[in-house]
Amino acid sequence: MLSGKRILLIVSGGIAAYKVLDLIRRLRERGAAVTPVMTRAAAEFVTPLSLSALAGEKVFRDLFDLTDEAEMGHIQLSRSADLVVVAPATADLMARMAGGHADDLASTLLLATDTPVLVAPAMNVRMWQHPATRRNLATLRGDGVRVVGPNEGDMACGEFGPGRMAEVPEILAAIEAALADGPLKGRRIVVTSGPTHEPIDPVRYIANRSSGAQGTAIARALAGLGAEVVFVTGPATVAPPAGVQVVRVETAREMLEAVQAALPAEAAVFAAAVADWRVANAAGQKMKKDGSGRAPALEFAENPDILATVAGLSKGRPRLVVGFAAETHDVEAHARAKRGRKGCDWIVANDVSPATGIMGGAENEVTLITAEGAETWPRLTKHEVAQRLAQRIAEALA
Ligand code: C5P
Repeated sequence: MLSGKRILLIVSGGIAAYKVLDLIRRLRERGAAVTPVMTRAAAEFVTPLSLSALAGEKVFRDLFDLTDEAEMGHIQLSRSADLVVVAPATADLMARMAGGHADDLASTLLLATDTPVLVAPAMNVRMWQHPATRRNLATLRGDGVRVVGPNEGDMACGEFGPGRMAEVPEILAAIEAALADGPLKGRRIVVTSGPTHEPIDPVRYIANRSSGAQGTAIARALAGLGAEVVFVTGPATVAPPAGVQVVRVETAREMLEAVQAALPAEAAVFAAAVADWRVANAAGQKMKKDGSGRAPALEFAENPDILATVAGLSKGRPRLVVGFAAETHDVEAHARAKRGRKGCDWIVANDVSPATGIMGGAENEVTLITAEGAETWPRLTKHEVAQRLAQRIAEALA
């Protein structure tokens, strides 16, 4: 899949830069050609010699290197690739990208390029969470830049949280997805999946039996058609697919926040089984028996409806909003009503009455409700349902 592809790899200055040495090896193993570019700060973390030795190509470092300008101008350098990958992408380089700066070779290439760009952010937790970085990230996404990671974990600076650069296999999968040719190439789609967990106290929660299988299959199918998928998942039992940007959440409110942060997008598919209610009086400490024999009374508050919220956006609403409806009787009538109530474009309805064996199973039998009417699909595997739905989404966005 990567064979013959040209990757322009921009390395900026962060401790995660050591991982790009392995990334270069894996890319070359797969037949890709890698042209490395490094910022001044990157040279503090990895040497130009190791980059060029592994890439088997010259490392470009300076905007004013006249020999390089003669051989290959920066415009040409920025456009000769199939994909520009920025790894690690520091907070500073992301800010300069978002601001359209062109004050060194890396930023100039990024401004001059008409090639798709993928960034793998890596920075301190606070820097990642800073409103300035949030704004820059939203700007970059709006400009069509793809993002892989960062992951949560221990940081070199001793802190814990999101900010670790994605691992090499994840970056490879994101590169493959970015280069995948398909009808959804360059289209950003948000998919929610899995159950939510609503805390009762720090150790207990209310959940549901959603495995995340259908949502995962949909995300995989969309990525397979070339879409840039942001996969917002609750604690599911099936692993998220490769080649998508995974955002892990627990509660409905976190899921809504993650979906809003992932917008703008051209389409959104809400396959998650979101809890309608959360515990309003969740305890800050583990609840204990008090010896009185009385059980604690839980109070509930309604969760935000993520589907209805996004479908109702007056500004920045995805062009296509797809919801799901799990019903046990009168499937079509209920699903039609739900489509109207939630304000979404399509509803994928299925019969989850126990006799069907669909809940938790590998197969699904769905009715697709659109403005044009209802169509019932034959019993298919969840994988096949996902393929069909992805194909339909591609047609709708075409
Ligand atoms: O109202 P009901 O839960 O049956 O609607 C199902 C659809 O709404 C699904 O697409 C589900 O992902 C979405 N939903 C949501 N937020 C909620 C509840 C449901 O996005 N709080």
